[in-house]
Parts: sequence; structure tokens; C-alpha cells
Amino acid sequence: MNAYARLPVSFVRGEGALLWDANGKQYIDALGGIAVTFLGHCHPTISQTISLQANTLLHTSNLFHISAQAKLGEEFCRIASMDKVFFGNSGAEANEAAIKISRLYARTKNVEQPVVITMNNSFHGRTMATLSATGNEAIKSGFEPLLSDFIHVDFNDLDALKALQDNANVVAVMLEPIQGEGGVIVPDPDYLSGVREICDANNWLMILDEIQTGMGRTGDWFAHQASDVKPDVLTSAKALGNGIPIGACAARGKAADLISPGVHGTTFGGNPFSSQVALSVIDVIESEQLLEKSKELGQQLKKQLQQNLGTLDKVIDIRGRGLMLGIELDKAYPGLAQTFLDHGLVVNITGAGKVIRLLPSVVTTEKQIKTITETIYSVIEHV
Ligand SMILES: Cc1ncc(COP(=O)(O)O)c(C=O)c1O
Repeated sequence: MNAYARLPVSFVRGEGALLWDANGKQYIDALGGIAVTFLGHCHPTISQTISLQANTLLHTSNLFHISAQAKLGEEFCRIASMDKVFFGNSGAEANEAAIKISRLYARTKNVEQPVVITMNNSFHGRTMATLSATGNEAIKSGFEPLLSDFIHVDFNDLDALKALQDNANVVAVMLEPIQGEGGVIVPDPDYLSGVREICDANNWLMILDEIQTGMGRTGDWFAHQASDVKPDVLTSAKALGNGIPIGACAARGKAADLISPGVHGTTFGGNPFSSQVALSVIDVIESEQLLEKSKELGQQLKKQLQQNLGTLDKVIDIRGRGLMLGIELDKAYPGLAQTFLDHGLVVNITGAGKVIRLLPSVVTTEKQIKTITETIYSVIEHV
């Protein structure tokens, strides 16, 4: 089906931060498959795990115990400080599980018409529940009737949340710690702890969608860990499998025991293959100390961008954390992503066409970081 407005390029090979197209042209990948290939393309350890597991066991089903899934469950809960986790196959599915948990939570409170507060300008996926949660009219348009039980408020606005405290149907708040698709929007430093306080005061679940921000992207395992805030429910996907599809919905405390046999499930989720690969991803990030590296490399890139692009009138803002950066331009420049491709750089334009989004891998070299900055400078200067 004609689901995507694709750029006219087809990549046939990748290694580290580099991609090659069918004509042999080389590109620096500063997009990482939209925050997926955090460890770069064809990381030797991940490729070895894939190969080994492909020759051992791919799939059995969740009718049986899966030791790799159990081990991954332990590891994921350790790095996320959560109690329990459910594995699916994508970000949207992880968020579906989170929304279903909020419904089960509502039952424990005898709330019959549960409402989840989500944010304007957010993105949570393309299934019916997750697009209903999403705060972007363009994504919802044409799919009405949507699930009506989401109230959208402005991101980074604690008063907007407080104004809903009298609504007895509210059971949860769901948000991204840094909005990704919305244009790399970083909230005020005390925003997440403010959300936590409001959730605690009202017995609302705090659901954090870390599908884009998680797994080392911002310099911590999960972006919220830069503060001392802990969500009740946490979703992850994208970089968890470095390209092998896997998603996770983790929960702690009162939210962790709501799913019981028969209540939720999936055929593929957490199969031996994807679980083993995700275990390997966690192991590589830890053993190669890549959280620190993500922080350092991100700071380096941000500093270079600020020093070099700061003089350009077209650049309004340079923001983000770790290896999740956004360059906001004064207006949308049609064809910009293609111009970058012409210059051998893969980026993505988001935030209503005005924000150049950079999600490079943690194996990007310092030389490549410099080339990324120089290319962005010359493209913006001439666009
Ligand atoms: C924050 C966030 N949530 C959910 C999703 C949906 O994930 P998926 O495309 O794997 O369903 C995305 C994907 O871009 C995302 O960035």
C-alpha cells in the first residue's frame, strides 16, 4: 500500500554510522532508522548474536517458558528500575499495553469511564488507541471515531494538569519525557517531577513513553533517569533491538500486577530471537560504557552545532539531550531532507517541517560528528 512518501534512495549496506546506496554512494547516517540503530549498523556483537540465535531457536510461542525472555525481563527491569515487563513487537504495541493497564487500573478504582491525559504535540503510535492518545490532528484525521477517553493538554504546563484534578475519571497521565516527533521539545528541568507530584496527589498513573528517548539515546538508559522521578509505567521499543523488532511495557508497584494470564498477549512478543538480541544490546551498551559515550558525543555535537550554526539567521534554536538533537529553523524549507541526501547526510525533518532532527548512533566517530556539523552548516547556509 502507498503508506509512505519515500525519498528516492535505497540503502543496500551499512557499517557503523555509514550507509551505502545502490549506486555505491556513501552517507553518514545521523538518523539511525529513526532512533533505532543506536549501536550503528551491523555491530559485530549484535550480528554475531543474531547469527547464533538464528541457528539455535527463533520462535516457540508464549504458550511455553522462554528463558531468553525471562532473562531479558530481569535485565530490562534492572536498567529501568521497574518490577515487571511485557514484551511486544513495536512502540505502538508497548503503548497499547500501557493504555490497557490504565483501563485495568481504573477498574480497581471503580472508575467506569476512565480518561488518560496526554499532551498536545505528542506522538504515541498509529494503532487506534495510540493515535487517539497522540496530540497531532494530522495523524488522527480520517480515522474518527477515535477513542474519546483522552484529554490533551499542553506539554510542559503543570497548571494545565492541575486544572484537571477535579475530574474523577482521570486515571493516568501519559507523556514523552522529551517530545520526539513533535520537534525535539525538552521540557523545563522540574516538569517531570511536577507531573509525578500531581499524579501522586491524585492517584493517577504516570506513564512515560520512552520509545524514542530510551536505551541510551539521551545519555541515560532512559531520559527520566536524569532526574529522580520514577514513572509507574514505562514503554520502550526502537533501539531495544537495534533493528530487530521488539517493544516493552514495564510497570512497577500497583501497576505491575494488573496483567494476568488471558488479559493481554501477542504471538511474537519476546520470542527467543528478539529477546536474545535485546539482551545483547543491553550487554553491549553496558560493557562498552556507551551511556557515558552517548552523553559525551551528544555534548560534543551540540557544542559544535551551536558554535557553527549560531551565526546563521535561519537557525532559531539548537536543543536536545545526548544523541537526540533538534535544530529549529525559521520556517519550513521544502526538499530539505533531499538536499541533505545530495550532500551525503541522512537526517529527518520534523516539528511541522521546521526542525532538523538528529538521532545519530553512539558509534559515530568524532570525525563524522565534525562532518555532520559542516554539512548541516553548508546546507542551511545555501538553502
Ligand atoms: C515516542 C514514540 N512513541 C511511539 C512510537 C511508535 O512506535 P512504533 O513506530 O514502533 O509503533 C514512536 C515512533 O516514532 C515514538 O517516537
